[in-house]
This record gives sequence, C-alpha cells and structure tokens, in this order.
Amino acid sequence: MKERPIVSEQEMLRQREYMQLVRSLEKRPRRYHIVSMGCQMNERDSESIAGMLEEMGMSREDVREQADLILYNTCCVRENAENKALGNVIWLKELKKTKPDLLICVGGCMTQEKGMAAMMKARYPFIDLVYGTHNLYRLPEYVYRVLTGGQPVVEVLDTDGEVVEGMPERRGTSFSTFVNIMYGCDNFCTYCIVPYVRGRERSREPEAVLMECARLRDAGAKEIMLLGQNVNSYRGGGAAFAELLYRIDRLGIERIRFMTSHPKDLSDELIHAFGELEHLMPQLHLPVQAGSDEVLKRMNRSYTSEHYVELVRKLRAVCPEIGLTSDIIVGFPGETLEQFEETLSLVRQVRFDAAYTFIYSPRKGTRAASMPDDTPYEVKSERIQRLIDVQQAISLEVLEAQVGRRERVLVEAVSTRDSLSVGGKTPRGHMVNFPGESSLIGRFADVEITSAGRNTLRGRQIKTEE
Ligand code: SAH
Ligand code: SF4
Ligand code: F3S
Repeated sequence: MKERPIVSEQEMLRQREYMQLVRSLEKRPRRYHIVSMGCQMNERDSESIAGMLEEMGMSREDVREQADLILYNTCCVRENAENKALGNVIWLKELKKTKPDLLICVGGCMTQEKGMAAMMKARYPFIDLVYGTHNLYRLPEYVYRVLTGGQPVVEVLDTDGEVVEGMPERRGTSFSTFVNIMYGCDNFCTYCIVPYVRGRERSREPEAVLMECARLRDAGAKEIMLLGQNVNSYRGGGAAFAELLYRIDRLGIERIRFMTSHPKDLSDELIHAFGELEHLMPQLHLPVQAGSDEVLKRMNRSYTSEHYVELVRKLRAVCPEIGLTSDIIVGFPGETLEQFEETLSLVRQVRFDAAYTFIYSPRKGTRAASMPDDTPYEVKSERIQRLIDVQQAISLEVLEAQVGRRERVLVEAVSTRDSLSVGGKTPRGHMVNFPGESSLIGRFADVEITSAGRNTLRGRQIKTEE
C-alpha cells in the first residue's frame, strides 16, 4: 500500500482561522447536535466534528429539537442504514418549518456515494450543507460560507482521500477511546461500498499514532481501540501493524484492542502478539463473512474456510482464552442451501463468542450488485434466523463457562436495565453488570461472575483498584 499525502499544516491553519471567523459572527448557531449513524470510524469522525463545532463557539445539545445546528454523520453500508439516514433528513424538513434558522448538515459515507450529493441538492433544498468523507476537515470553511452566503453549500470531492492530522476533537470518554491508524480500504469485497466512499488505503505515520496514544494515556485513557477498515494492511512509515502494536504496548496503556482484521493478511507476527503483549486484550474481531469457499471466492475475500479455521487454531494455540467475534453475510447472490449450511458448520466449528449477522444488501456500483440473485428474501430471512439460533446457543454456552471466574472489569456506564448496577467489559470483551455506584465509571473493578444471560454476564464486586 502506498502512503498518501497529508493535508498540509497550512490548510489546517486556514481551517482554524475559519473556526475563529464563525465564532466572531453575531448570528451563528450556539448549540449543536450530531447523529452518528455508522461504525466506530464514523463515531471517531463525529468526535472531530464536535471538536470543530466547539472551536466555532458552539456547545453540545443532547435534545435534537433544541439544537441550532443538526449534523447527520451518515452510513450506507447496507440499504437500511441509507434509508434510515434519508428518513431522518426528510423529517428535519418539518422541524425547519418551525425553526427557520436551524442549520442542517449532512456528511459521512452516504453523501460520498455516486450521484447522492446531486440528488440531495435537487430534492432536499432545505439542507444547508452537504459534504463528504474526504473533505470533513473543511467543515469550518463550509459552515462559514453557509452562514455568510445565505445559500446551501454542497461539496463532495471525488478523490482518493488523504491523511488528516491535527483536527480539534471532543472525545466521548477519556478512559476508553478510539485511535485511527489508517483510513480507506483497497480490498473491494464484491458486496461492499466502503472502498468507494472511504477512498484508498492510507496509513498514519507511526509517530503520529504513538504521540496521540501517549497524549491520551496522559489524559487518563485506560483502554484504546485502534481503528481501520483492515488494520492488517497498515503500513505507516514502512512499519507493519504488528510492529506498531509492539510499540504502542510499551506506552503502558492498560488495555489495547483493535478492529477490523481481514483474515487474508492476519500475519503470524500479529498472532504471536496475542501471546506476548502485556496490554493487548485477548479479543479479536475477525469477520469470516461466509463458510463456503465458492461464496468467499465470489465475495473476493481471498481466503478459504480452511485457512480461516487454521488462523483460529493458531490464535487459540498462542492465546487459549481469546474471544473471537465475527461478521457474517447470509444470502449473498447465488448462495445455495448447501453453501449456507457450510456457514452454519463453520460457526459450529469455530464457536465465536458473538457474531454480527446481516442479510446481503445490494449496493449500487459494487460488483455483487450485478450478480444474479434468485433466492427469495423470505428464504434469506429463514436462513439468517437459523444462523442466529445456532450462534445464540453457542454464545450462551461461552458466557456460562465464565461463571465462577474472577475478572477485571473496566467500568463504562450505569447499567441500562438497573440504575443500581454498573457495567463494563472483561479483557475478553464480555459485558458484565454488577451492583455498584456510578463513581466506579472509568475505573477497574474486580468482579466474580455469578450468572450468564443471553448477551451479558452478571457478577459481584470483590474489591476495587484505584
Ligand atoms: N472492514 C470491515 C467491515 C466493514 S463493514 C471488514 O472488512 O470486516 C461491516 C460489515 O458489514 C462487514 O463485515 C459485512 O459483514 C457487512 N456488510 C458490508 N457490506 C454489506 C452488504 N452489502 N450487505 C450486507 N452486509 C454487508
Ligand atoms: Fe468492505 Fe471488504 Fe474493505 Fe471490509 S475489507 S471495508 S468488507 S471491502
Ligand atoms: Fe462505517 Fe458505514 Fe462508512 S460502516 S465506513 S460509516 S459506510
């Protein structure tokens, strides 16, 4: 993978000037509300967006209807994500009738789809700003133009994308946080729109990643999640991902996780890292997508189910406790019943801790969208239900096997079901809820696992470390 140009410091300074210009305007939005509709990378982008808006003098508003600026950070990986984004945007038209000064901004992967920005400009003139994934860093300039020009701004660039350093940020939490290590994807799995909307693979320099991690550690980060569409093809400054990971491990941040890994280039060095690195958590998201070699080939995944199972064997040999999770697509064009059953048998063989299952959704412009697909939707629905049933039984068994263990949990939040409990993750990534106060949030707690539910564990605290 080639390294890609970095947006110049000069350009970033120019954007900082726009932030100040917006701040100095008499008539400008004071409260912003961002809706993140996609993956972790989309959420990470929202943190940069929030940072820029705050530099422009705005503060976060949790109630959407009360905000002066609403920004949708969209996703288009499947049709329902796109429909949800469009539905939400159309709903804003009504809100704008009662709040004429409301500023509506739409960005993210969906606007980067071919023809989408032009369609939005023509059909939704009430949207004030449409921007794409490649020009997110120019948001300050666009907001300024909208506020001073009185005209909608629609600007989506058709480039390969660049690396952007030095954007302002407002992170969700300080104790557990995301760090991008690369952007874009060159794999072109035949079903997937991500390479079209996120551009070519490009890595951040290892020094930039390390500096960011050290800064976050100093600000109290206990867990970092390294992000990339395929972290295994990271190549920053010539360094491979495993090398970067060894260097990050030495920073002493207590928990390191990463996603997503593509099975085709999960290296032996990386597998060994799970046996060697003190801070790398025993957890790996390794999407298999399908269990049939014929389907994998048509998906352009470049590995066989046998190769995948071999990776799992190696991972468990170096780290027996590793928790594996996966993404699986059901009903890919031409998938036969036998081929689907190969997915079921792979799932039974590997025994994932959890799997995210999706019915194949055709995406315009991808190769799979023009493959013949004669399986009725009802049949696909039946198949996914069978898969979910098989996986749920396995997940329950995996969780039940944790009962009686003592685990160190990084407490994340008050439990959604019980306000007298808090929840957090074990090293393996299992969510545990246990009676405890909100003062534990952001701290480690030693917990004994007392029972297992369908997706989460319950426990009781033994003692808390500072
Ligand atoms: N880069 C990551 C995941 C990106 S998208 C990876 O390669 O694993 C997250 C998941 O969405 C994918 O793993 C895949 O299972 C699913 N997905 C992507 N495109 C899809 C489509 N067209 N229909 C259904 N599921 C899809
Ligand atoms: Fe999409 Fe494949 Fe790239 Fe993942 S690796 S983002 S599934 S093209
Ligand atoms: Fe993520 Fe959706 Fe874009 S999954 S990369 S936000 S298409």
